[in-house]
Amino acid sequence: MRPEVRAEFAEVRARLDGDPAFLSRLERFFTELRDPLVALYGSDPRFGAQFAGLLQAMARSAGERDPDLRRLDHEREITPDWLLREQTVGYVAYADRFAGTLRGVRERLPYLRELGVSYLHLMPLLAARPEPNDGGYAVADYGAVEPALGTMDDLRALARDLHGQGISLCVDVVLNHTAREHAWARAALGGDERRLAYYRTFPDRTEPDEYERTLPEVFPDIAPGSFTWVRELGRWVWATFNDYQWDLDYSNPEVFTAMARVVLDLANVGVDVLRLDAVPFLWKRKGTDCQNQPEVHELLQALRSVARIAAPAVGFKAEAIVSPAQLVTYLGAGRHEGKECDLAYNNVLMALLWSSLASGRAPLMTHVLGSMPQVPPGAGWVTYVRCHDDIGWAITEEDTAAVGEDAHLHRLFLSDFYAGDFPGSFARGARFEQDASSGEARTSGTAASLAGIEAALDAGDEVALQLGIRRVLLLHAVAFAHGGVPLIYMGDEIGLRNDRAWTDHPHHRADNRWMHRPSMDWRAAERRHLPGTVEAALWEGLRRLVAARRATRATHAQGAGQPLWTGNDRVYGLLRTFAGERLLVLANLTADDQRVHKSIVDEFGLLLDRPAAARPDGRDLRLDGEHLIFAPYQFAWFAA
Ligand code: GLC
Repeated sequence: MRPEVRAEFAEVRARLDGDPAFLSRLERFFTELRDPLVALYGSDPRFGAQFAGLLQAMARSAGERDPDLRRLDHEREITPDWLLREQTVGYVAYADRFAGTLRGVRERLPYLRELGVSYLHLMPLLAARPEPNDGGYAVADYGAVEPALGTMDDLRALARDLHGQGISLCVDVVLNHTAREHAWARAALGGDERRLAYYRTFPDRTEPDEYERTLPEVFPDIAPGSFTWVRELGRWVWATFNDYQWDLDYSNPEVFTAMARVVLDLANVGVDVLRLDAVPFLWKRKGTDCQNQPEVHELLQALRSVARIAAPAVGFKAEAIVSPAQLVTYLGAGRHEGKECDLAYNNVLMALLWSSLASGRAPLMTHVLGSMPQVPPGAGWVTYVRCHDDIGWAITEEDTAAVGEDAHLHRLFLSDFYAGDFPGSFARGARFEQDASSGEARTSGTAASLAGIEAALDAGDEVALQLGIRRVLLLHAVAFAHGGVPLIYMGDEIGLRNDRAWTDHPHHRADNRWMHRPSMDWRAAERRHLPGTVEAALWEGLRRLVAARRATRATHAQGAGQPLWTGNDRVYGLLRTFAGERLLVLANLTADDQRVHKSIVDEFGLLLDRPAAARPDGRDLRLDGEHLIFAPYQFAWFAA
């Protein structure tokens, strides 16, 4: 510590009660907490009192921490890669759509155990405004659970049960905005100036117009513009997403400390990982797209330090759907290295998986993933095939140019293909937020529907059905091997198709992301034990992948991954290394047999152990002279 900061720390410490472990963490992370806050708010007259109050809150919160959670604090401090290990496999679900309530989720834990997951992300579960509420992403009270789901005590009990089964719990913290029904917003509406200053509001269009010159719209169809006129206030309010989601103003230190308290409270309920929603948007700057501003990283470092000091068992996961170069910064880059999030969603991999499946070609994925920055020390990706959001085809001109393709045409192809509007398409998805001038769109649809299972079932085409199943497994095989925490999105393990009734709900009709948020079909889930069914094929296939991952150290998030040219553009190849262990993955992206010269296996010092390599796929790997023959959508994992 610098001498002047040491003096400041001594002063802080003298005024704080806390156990020795808390105080030593405070000392260790004091500058990591203080410096970004001073950089952001040092000149703000409100800062001194806010900082002192925050430290008190941290000490109190650490003191109140349950003994079981303190034990987790200790375990995870001595095993800092607890989240990044090859054993971690996650599952994502809306609590209500999965099991009705939080109690219902507790009753369904045997199902998750059977699948082999060790991490459960329950979609937004804090009290939201009444519908429409963007699937819970419009929080009205961070201190309460959505009443239909249960109570904070239920959440605490769920976390305890999960911990007893070796499963950690991930919950969303919506940092960027609150519902306009949140107490802060209501106070602002009632004339409270202090609360009004929690939001970004403007008396007229002058500033909104200046910002909008460079602001992209997130939901141009369902919620155009980034500002909403609020009659009661007589002001424009910044609302990046829907007009009922008001962006918080993080240039106000009180907003930061208020959110830090939310984090502390969730930590003490027993939440293990916080999914930081829409985190790139936290700081705004005129003349920019108001995403990924450097201040966002100061905020994240400070928030992370709050948790590290008061509740070190808690991990952070960033939801930042941004370009590869930006994405990696959420894992802590440069002077923030090791000080931001443990995990970030690898949306680039997700989009490329679907892109490669549609084109049946590996070069674009090989090129883009090969040029992606490596993850910084102590952090890793979250890899996934589908989630509750649309698929954005963020494929750039540079990327396609490098492999002789055209970005616009490829993006158009993908949105057409997955809407089922391209010759030969097997998909049954839909366009989301289509751009009128370019015709490009994002894509909605469940994995099963996008991969051809829905169309095959409707047509009663058994061959097409088998191909659809293989496609879903293939994408998961690459996501599971890529390195990082793989997430299974609820229903994909049994091939849930698009919700046919999604438009019945009056508040969902405008947003077709609801098509891929079906309710769990427990009758279908029972068929997972019935050989010959779609459910059994997917369930067993995913269980094989879970088992393969747990046994393959090279999938540890901290390993290095290198996509490779396999000599066949239809076969994707990836080499991973970690702690002296290697994994070579080969994956056929097409519905035809594909050949790869077997020397690729020797080249990396691996053994051509065909039975072992075929295990996660479940089919024998054929050999024809010098060539490995991959059946349609077959994949193989060769490990040392
Ligand atoms: C995140 C969520 C998305 C939501 C948005 C606004 O991107 O994943 O579903 O609409 O944040 O909260």
